[in-house]
Amino acid sequence: MTVYKVAIVGLGIGRAHLEEAYSKLGDRFQVVALCDLNTGRLADTGRDFGIERLVTSLDEVLAMEDVDIVDICTPPSLHLEQCLAVLAAGKHVICEKPLVGSLAQMDVLEQAEARSKGRILPIFQYRWGTGFLKARELVRRGLVGKPYVASCETHWQRGADYYAIAWRGKLDIELGGILLSQAIHLHDMMCELMGPVERVYAEATTRVNPIEVEDCVAASLKMVNGSLVSLSCTLGAKAEVSRLKACFEHVTIESAYEPYAPGNDPWQFTVAEGPAGDRIKAVLAEVDAVQSRFHGQLISYHGALSGQGEWPVTLADARRSLELITALYDSASRHVPVTLPIKPDHALYGDWRTRLV
Ligand SMILES: NC(=O)c1ccc[n+]([C@@H]2O[C@H](COP(=O)([O-])OP(=O)(O)OC[C@H]3O[C@@H](n4cnc5c(N)ncnc54)[C@H](O)[C@@H]3O)[C@@H](O)[C@H]2O)c1
Repeated sequence: MTVYKVAIVGLGIGRAHLEEAYSKLGDRFQVVALCDLNTGRLADTGRDFGIERLVTSLDEVLAMEDVDIVDICTPPSLHLEQCLAVLAAGKHVICEKPLVGSLAQMDVLEQAEARSKGRILPIFQYRWGTGFLKARELVRRGLVGKPYVASCETHWQRGADYYAIAWRGKLDIELGGILLSQAIHLHDMMCELMGPVERVYAEATTRVNPIEVEDCVAASLKMVNGSLVSLSCTLGAKAEVSRLKACFEHVTIESAYEPYAPGNDPWQFTVAEGPAGDRIKAVLAEVDAVQSRFHGQLISYHGALSGQGEWPVTLADARRSLELITALYDSASRHVPVTLPIKPDHALYGDWRTRLV
């Protein structure tokens, strides 16, 4: 098996990539270098994981000939520039969400990837959990019947301690609020089950913390397949829950409530009586368990990079998620329904923040 050499840039969630995934996947990845501007974090993480090459600039990482993959875990406003630099160096890039800050930036990234030897691997680790995998398998095999409705609740809690890190809650660096930073995961999972979005109507407000970006959202969506979806998001919940529920003709599916691993079992599948329900039960019984979150996603990426599996999160997935966010911000700022697709002549294609200030 090929062992890819990795450098991690940014050691907040980057440390979790190391702890949850790379440190358990030594037969697939070797983290050879760490990079952070914060020298304390750099020294602590290097010591804790026995990594000796510690640097404070991406340029130093890009000069390391043995590094195959650069894992970008820096604040959102840096992602585009850093991903472009990694691709220009001919290396693969894993990048945290949100991948970039607009649909126009997605265009730039797609063009850069097409010119590079490197590929982009966006992070959407919440998809990795056996419960979600079962649900998606039923949808992919066409067993669920007509989709009716779905609801997504991202009810999390964030307070002063979270926003003590200076870039969080700032429009010019975080680039958005709960839609971009937290609910992006569950909404991506919803789209995997319910398909593309046709129209949205959203209300967004800031009620929980004194920040520049939204922290409460309610939205209704009409999907291309005719089904209806509601989104409810807050950073002021006293009990943290991520919950995805979808009602189809032959099955009602409900996720577990675990806020930071909603893909994990147990998911509930209530199936119709008769042959359609029996087919669903048979598939549920045969889906193999997967590793959760970053661990599962990096196993899948290793397979894809080695030519032994499909690309698990594509640039098209990242674009779909940013297109939905652009439409939701457009709707919430003008109080009107917004129809997708969002085309290049749309006022927010280049930058949704013009409407969030
Ligand atoms: N997938 C998830 O569940 C998840 C969870 C948390 C954060 N994130 C995302 O990860 C990214 C980072 O968030 P975080 O919470 O870890 O932030 P953080 O502030 O805790 O960590 C970011 C680190 O990047 C370093 N850094 C900043 N600029 C740098 C540069 N130019 N070169 C090298 N290092 C630099 C900082 O010193 C800091 O240590 C964000 O995009 C965030 O949305 C994703």
